[in-house]
Amino acid sequence: MIVLNDEHYIGEGLIRTCYEHPEDKSRCVKVPKAHVTRDYTYKEILYYLKLQKRNTSKFNYPFYSDYRGELETNLGLGQVFDLVRDEQTGTISKTLEYYLNNETLVTSEKLWNALLQLKQQMTQFKVFTRDLRARNLCCKVLNDGTIQIIIIDGIGHRDFFPLADYFSFFSKKKIERTFKKWHFTSIEDQKAFLLKDNG
Ligand SMILES: Nc1ncnc2c1ncn2[C@@H]1O[C@H](COP(=O)(O)OP(=O)(O)O)[C@@H](O)[C@H]1O
Ligand SMILES: [Mg+2]
Repeated sequence: MIVLNDEHYIGEGLIRTCYEHPEDKSRCVKVPKAHVTRDYTYKEILYYLKLQKRNTSKFNYPFYSDYRGELETNLGLGQVFDLVRDEQTGTISKTLEYYLNNETLVTSEKLWNALLQLKQQMTQFKVFTRDLRARNLCCKVLNDGTIQIIIIDGIGHRDFFPLADYFSFFSKKKIERTFKKWHFTSIEDQKAFLLKDNG
């Protein structure tokens, strides 16, 4: 069993609290909140296991934080994932929401290019997300100052007939719809959505 405490805390959403893995700097541990069912967590794990059967060596970059198994913690059963860090400083990468709220740090153009790259990779490798929110995307700052956007939450889909898993025509449409639905049609559009969403 590993012990997680305040010093390991990274952030949280409605579902889980995220901690730095005390013994592995490249991983984080997510502990589901009390109301989250095992069924919910397990469905997500199954999607990651399905993705892991694919050949990931052709990815331009690891565009989602991958699942690395479960582990007992003092706070309950946790799931281990890749932790995103900036290349040069090694600090834990900030979310896209953070950069959209702190406009002076990175240009909109850089963020937009990174989003286009993410979309291209999701389309090419048929990886979907149910919850494409700026707070579920991490911005890894590279040595040359460019950004890679990495999905840290919400991966998977609920399609009963998963045509998009198999046919490029459907996967392309599905990802187009996802980007539209979550207001990723431009950086300005996303900023306006964040303002409205966060009231
Ligand atoms: N792999 C990761 N790398 C860096 N930060 C992360 C990572 N996963 C989560 N975080 C941080 O923790 C927060 C909550 O994690 P998340 O998985 O989105 O929880 P929830 O499922 O409750 O929404 C994120 O918004 C982000 O700030
Ligand atoms: Mg989240």
